[in-house]
Amino acid sequence: MALRCDLIIRDATIFDGTGGPRRLGDVGVSGDRIVGVGDLGGASADREVIATGKAIAPGFIDAHTHDDRAVLCGPQCMLCKVSQGVTTVVVGNCGISLSPARMSRRPPPPLDLLGDESWWTFDSFGDYARTLKSQGCEVNTYALIGHQTLRMEAMGGDVYRPAKDAEILRMQTRLKQALAEGGSGFSTGLYYPPNAQATTEEVIAVGEALRASGGMYVTHMRDEADKVCASIEETLKIGRRIGVPVHISHHKCSMPENYGRSTQTLALIGAAAAMQEVAFDVYPYPAGSTVLMPEKVRDETRVIITWSVPYPEMAGRDLSEIARGWNTDLRAAAERLTPAGAVTFQMDEEDVRRIMRHPLSMIGSDGLPHDEKPHPRLWGTFPRVLGLYTRQLGLFDMETAIHKMTGRAAQVFGMVDRGELREGAYADLVLFDPATVMDNATFENPVQMSVGIEEVWTNGVATFARGRETGEKPGRVVTRGR
Ligand code: CU
Ligand code: ZN
Repeated sequence: MALRCDLIIRDATIFDGTGGPRRLGDVGVSGDRIVGVGDLGGASADREVIATGKAIAPGFIDAHTHDDRAVLCGPQCMLCKVSQGVTTVVVGNCGISLSPARMSRRPPPPLDLLGDESWWTFDSFGDYARTLKSQGCEVNTYALIGHQTLRMEAMGGDVYRPAKDAEILRMQTRLKQALAEGGSGFSTGLYYPPNAQATTEEVIAVGEALRASGGMYVTHMRDEADKVCASIEETLKIGRRIGVPVHISHHKCSMPENYGRSTQTLALIGAAAAMQEVAFDVYPYPAGSTVLMPEKVRDETRVIITWSVPYPEMAGRDLSEIARGWNTDLRAAAERLTPAGAVTFQMDEEDVRRIMRHPLSMIGSDGLPHDEKPHPRLWGTFPRVLGLYTRQLGLFDMETAIHKMTGRAAQVFGMVDRGELREGAYADLVLFDPATVMDNATFENPVQMSVGIEEVWTNGVATFARGRETGEKPGRVVTRGR
């Protein structure tokens, strides 16, 4: 009997997400799954899309996000991601997850990246996941549980010190519970003050909770500048001691005196990969973005303010210009602006490219969805890798670029039947024009949709088409190995 599908995409260039060579063919979808790939000439469908000259690939997996709240925000909140072809986001990064902790006042930076106390209402990951499931979302959500969040709860907000044994035990119990309720891993942000006082032993002790579930350890490392190699060693040690895979977030070599050191860091990570599971993500820009930390600002690195609670009108302006206007130095200006966020030009383009090119890398936007004037990575990451770094600069071929956005991420995070375009896999798909796909978001004008992304499906349902959201919310909570 002839195959009958809900949807057939015909005559497309198929990138299957494995990194294997592209081929021409058709893709058939029924319900939430891909039911046929290749020549589906004998099959019919309720809807047929003629995709001659276009590319079809697994939906992109954003390996590093702070979308914990955005996935709950309702219409428009995920347009920044679906318009890039993203179908799955990894939330809870950098030690910051929206559960399990309630806040009665504005949490300290960087936890306030996710919002003030009104957003921190989840006593458990189970509560969060239930809310997400009942509200629905355009994208699938894969969640990590953050050490900074666990510390806020277990230490009663008194987080600028090492945790005591009873507090460590409390965090371990809460992490275990969250993993049982559908969380997939444990993240730290050891760079940040509310996490920096945690010793390596504290991280290992809390992370023991991962062992039973096989979840992974993901980290914004203690230091990405002078001590970046020591931080990588610490990360590897934590993974070996707990006995789980490790993942380094937004790998970089920060600050001018460390430019070029990615040759060292990648050699270190590459050598370790022979002995233990290790991976990393990277975003395609030589500038980072996080909360503004006055003690870290330096004269030679440009800083743009992305938001400020006391001075919202300063969003989008250079810190140096603000300081000049106020007749103060950079640090004093930064202190006046906080709580605030910033973009900092702290990387070398050559390092960014070397890190992206490395076979262990995957792509993560690290976009900050609630910033007034966000870093352009929020809207531009995936089309930028495809358009600028692949098509124009030839950093790698399209097969490799897509693998880093799909199959590689799914494999490392243990997302079953996702990240690959094959029969039986979930129909998370992106249809795009490989000749035109490109980001439009810039540092000056960051809220800009990309071009060349034509249609996006999550679990077989279109979420983005003809330049807009469809309003459908077929996303699910995705758990490691399930
Ligand atoms: Cu982050
Ligand atoms: Zn981070």
